[in-house]
Amino acid sequence: MTLDEQKQSAAARAIEFVEDGMKLGLGTGSTAEKFVNLLGERVKDGLNVLCVPTSEATRAQAENLAIPLTNLDAQPYLDLTVDGADELDDKLRLIKGGGGALLREKIVAMASDRMIVIADASKHVEMLGRFPLPVEIVSFGAAATRLMVEELAESADCTGNIVMRQNSDGKHFVTDSGNYILDCAFGRIPDPEMLADALSIIPGVVDSGLFLDIADLALLANEDGITVLEAPDVD
Ligand code: A5P
Repeated sequence: MTLDEQKQSAAARAIEFVEDGMKLGLGTGSTAEKFVNLLGERVKDGLNVLCVPTSEATRAQAENLAIPLTNLDAQPYLDLTVDGADELDDKLRLIKGGGGALLREKIVAMASDRMIVIADASKHVEMLGRFPLPVEIVSFGAAATRLMVEELAESADCTGNIVMRQNSDGKHFVTDSGNYILDCAFGRIPDPEMLADALSIIPGVVDSGLFLDIADLALLANEDGITVLEAPDVD
């Protein structure tokens, strides 16, 4: 199975969790895109859902497929969000934001009763950090914020190259919410909770791509089929 086929099979499994009448959050990225395509087919066949996209790209895709859309102002509570991830560990802690949509993705996921992650199994790691952690920052004082991220991350035992994300034309990458992204190549994040807490005190940081205690289930596709990972009980 190619990577693309694995993503497709994870998306197909996730569709089984969708029920008529649900309010859904629609993720962003190449795996979520496959889920949205499948959802579009179901909608065409008469499935009744109302969806909130996590990016302008997903909005455009869903509109093309005539998937009914709403927003969190009209529908602040959703039943289920299905989204991809850049990395996940055994505790279903995630790194997201490779596509730059982490802020809306987190807002939508946290407004949902349930978040299901769909990915190929290569995204499953023992320790988060191999994928550079995206951190969304406001443009004002971006250079100062970058230095603060470096310092505070070090206090959480995370060091590495931190770069401002750029487009191919060399200009700053700007998120759908008008912010910049720092990509933090830590290599390893031994204590994601400690890092998230450290980053959260920096005023210029909007949020990081660490999704902790948010995902409920992961559907990981590999050559042999789907592995289901469940979030540990936290009570
Ligand atoms: C978008 O900002 C990301 O969080 C994506 O969900 C993540 O990058 C996974 O994307 P792929 O499914 O394309 O790997």
